[in-house]
Amino acid sequence: MVMRTYDGSAGDVDHPTSGPGHVPHRRPDVRIAHVIAQALGDARTVLNVGAGAGSYETAAHTITAVEPSLAMRARRPAQLATAIDAVAEDLPFADGQFDASMTLFSVHQWSDVEAGLREMRRVTRGPVVVLTCDPARVRDFWLYEYAPDVLDTEARHHPPLHRLTAALGGTTTVQPVPIPLDCTDGFNEAYYGRPELLLDPAARQACSAWSFIDDRARQAFDASLRRALGSGSWDEAFGHLRSRPTYHGSLVLLRATP
Ligand SMILES: C[S@@+](CC[C@H](N)C(=O)[O-])C[C@H]1O[C@@H](n2cnc3c(N)ncnc32)[C@H](O)[C@@H]1O
Repeated sequence: MVMRTYDGSAGDVDHPTSGPGHVPHRRPDVRIAHVIAQALGDARTVLNVGAGAGSYETAAHTITAVEPSLAMRARRPAQLATAIDAVAEDLPFADGQFDASMTLFSVHQWSDVEAGLREMRRVTRGPVVVLTCDPARVRDFWLYEYAPDVLDTEARHHPPLHRLTAALGGTTTVQPVPIPLDCTDGFNEAYYGRPELLLDPAARQACSAWSFIDDRARQAFDASLRRALGSGSWDEAFGHLRSRPTYHGSLVLLRATP
């Protein structure tokens, strides 16, 4: 049975209640949106699981959204479809009901990833698209030198890709997703060339892994990154990233066909 918290969340992250609209630091990025749209192909009906506030849902598709958290459902802008209160592990849909389905930045929060992906496969005729992080690559990012606990948490939470591909069955392609230098969707690696922005507590808060470390660790990170930026040691080691147009980090897109 899937455990759910006070607001209906099924994952291990609490979503503070707030009004409709996107978290300002997590606006969908158009370049990433393009990669997702290509993976969905010519699908008309699309299921979005763990849909949150509806990032990356477009008018090009007829979207059915599933979102277990009441607070996240409340954040969905009025023009988007009302999300259904359900979990990936037990989808209330018929076999093959959708042309395609997607789940974005969500599988790491599910209590049973295999069951959720099998459910997505069951209700989808065409591609199942999963945007997630490859835990084997998470610690390669420079942030590991300054906030190892955060990236250890991320690496621990994200399921290994072989588990995802096995659960999806059929044929799965895994595509690294290039992260643009001015990426508007503020997950940690989005700041690869703009380290100063990670000194903003609101930017960090928009990325769930930061909620698993305590204030002391957050302060230690802030102090050490400030020191490295002030002394020039960050730029000495990583300054070349400030002008690199895209970064290939841990972000990957899986596309599974039956
Ligand atoms: C980081 S948010 C991503 C939201 C959205 N997909 C996006 O890209 O902005 C992860 C979402 O997964 C949802 N979630 C957690 N466990 C879930 C489950 N078992 N089934 C479906 N959704 C789940 C959470 O409530 C949350 O809204």
